[in-house]
Formats: sequence, C-alpha cells, structure tokens
Amino acid sequence: MNYNIAVIPGDGTGPEVTAEAVKALEALAKNHDLDFQFTYYDLGGDRYLRTGELVSQGIIEELKQSDSILLGAIGHPEVKPGILEQGILLRLRFALDLYINLRPVVLLPGAYTPLKDKGPGDIDFVVIRENSEGAYVGSGGFFKKGTPDEVAVQESVNTRKGVERCVRYAFDYCMQRNRKLHLTLCAKTNVLTYESDLWFRTFQEVSREYPSVSTDYQHVDALCMWMIKNPERYDVIVTNNMFGDIITDIGAIIQGGLGIAAGGNIHPGGPAMFEPIGGSAPKYTGQGKINPMAAIYAAQMMLEYIGEKDVADYLLMAITKVVKDDLESLEAGRMGFTTSEVGDLVVKRLAKG
Ligand code: IPM
Ligand code: MN
Repeated sequence: MNYNIAVIPGDGTGPEVTAEAVKALEALAKNHDLDFQFTYYDLGGDRYLRTGELVSQGIIEELKQSDSILLGAIGHPEVKPGILEQGILLRLRFALDLYINLRPVVLLPGAYTPLKDKGPGDIDFVVIRENSEGAYVGSGGFFKKGTPDEVAVQESVNTRKGVERCVRYAFDYCMQRNRKLHLTLCAKTNVLTYESDLWFRTFQEVSREYPSVSTDYQHVDALCMWMIKNPERYDVIVTNNMFGDIITDIGAIIQGGLGIAAGGNIHPGGPAMFEPIGGSAPKYTGQGKINPMAAIYAAQMMLEYIGEKDVADYLLMAITKVVKDDLESLEAGRMGFTTSEVGDLVVKRLAKG
C-alpha cells in the first residue's frame, strides 16, 4: 500500500522527534509491503516570525488530500501564548473537523509511574476528548477591557450534533477495543447545568444502542482523584474538550510522562493528525535529549488508524521492548541514549523481530 503522509515537524524539539518517527516508518516500509510518501510542511513559530504566516487555506486543502498527518510540536517562546496554538494547532483541528482527540493512557512495562503500587495492568485506558467545540471555539470577548470594570466572557459551545458524534465514537471505540466494555462519562452536571446536562442526556440516549457496554458517570473533579487512586477502574472515558485537555495531562504523567504520551486528532474516515503531546520543549532544542518515543508512538497510532493493524502491532512490540529493556528512563536527558539513538534502537528491534 502507498500512503501520503504530511509531516509538520513544527517548533523546538518537534523536528528532532518527528525525524525518529519517520525513521521508524521508513524501516517498517522496507520490511512490509508499504510505501510512504512524506510531504513536509514548514509551519510553526519560526516561520511565523519570519513571514507572519500561520496556515494558509492552500495548505489546509493539501492536508485534506493526505492520508494522515504527523505533527511534531507547535509553540515558540518568542511568540505570545495563543497565537500559534489558535492559528495553527486549533486551526488544523477545526479546519479538518478533527472532532475526536484520542489519548491512550497505557503504562508499558518498564515505564515509570508515580503511582505507588500500580503496574502496567492497572493503567490501561483511553480518553476520548471532544476536539471541535466547548471552550475551545474562541467564542466570547472583552467589555471595558483594561478598566476596573473589565468583563471577560469565554463561552463553552456544545451542540447536540457535536456531543452526539463524540459520544457515539466513544461507544464504538469501546466495543472495538473489547476489554472491559466500560465507558465513563466525565462532566460536571452539578455546576454546568446546561452543557453537562446536554452531555448526560445524549450519553444516556446513545447508551441504549449499546446494551453490551456498561456505563457510569463521574464529575470531573472526582475523576481526577480516582484516576490517581484507582486507575484500573477505567476502560474508556469520554469528555468535553477542556476537561479532556486537563485529565489527559494526568493521564500522561501516570503512564510515564511526556516522553511516551501520544494522541490522535481524528475525523473518522478522513485524514487524522497524530502527535506526541509533550510540546516543543524549546530549552532542549537541538540537544538530542528529548525522548522520541512519544512521536514514534504517535506514528504507531497513525498506522493503526490508516488500517495497517499488523504493522502497527509490530511497531508497538518494538516500542515495548525498547522501553522495557533498553532505556534507563523515559525522561528527557535520562534515557541513557540520545534522541536519534532511541530511534535507532527501535529500528534495530524492528529488524530483529
Ligand atoms: C493539547 C494542548 C493544546 C490544547 C494547546 C497547546 C492548545 O495542550 O493538545 O492538549 O489545549 O488542546
Ligand atoms: Mn493539553
């Protein structure tokens, strides 16, 4: 099979880690019946500072034609917070209508979790975060800005259609994952009496179509506690954009940190965008200290998404072995290897089988 992969290395350490993900994909292509055509897009803070450009409509159209997108990281210390995030990352999410943010929280053997007495079997769940609405739409504004009477309003926009497609995806995902067949809705019905009410009702209605999936509901604050105390109770969690953002950072740290945590921005049936969730880590740029495993994991998720399940499983095997047997730690600067050496270790495992 032949795949067109758009690569957006981005800022900071994004290019270093993306290179290792591409390296792993190229190694796989050699030994399997795969052909990847990589097209690179120079998007990010450096380009913005140089040209004032974020993402053009032309690039959006090209990305829509790709089979999937690999993203490194977006974020630049010299650009005011919000500009690149809104202008590139969120723009891509919205323009491609990538309404699912899929974030597996899996503790691999050998990875360090700060949770006492918890091991790999205990931390194995997936967060499905709504990725196209909520507080992220940028609706709201200032009134009397800069005066003592200033008012700031930031609205959370939730549509029945948007909530329903996300909830439905979560039920389908839970069925297909076929582990505990248990889906948890995370919201805040005791305070967000409009938005969480819409989520709750939609969840209940859709759940009737999935009698084999057991369900429960948790307020987001309580869920933050339980994720730490009893992560083993979760199978799949579905939640809105903002809560999903927050709880997946907890997820990342209990699965071994930003060196391993990856996610996918998905519009089922269309090109999806996969990324390590660690950010651009500008202070480490060019030092070879960042763990590329999260980027390689993102490539693994991409393979699964484009339908190359066997190849994806094979890559997961290599990732798992390197994490368990080779790396001293998943943390930046503590791996016992440089960024590109970690990529080489994965390639070596792929060759050995
Ligand atoms: C993430 C990030 C983004 C988000 C930021 C960079 C806009 O934190 O992907 O989780 O909030 O979605
Ligand atoms: Mn985040």
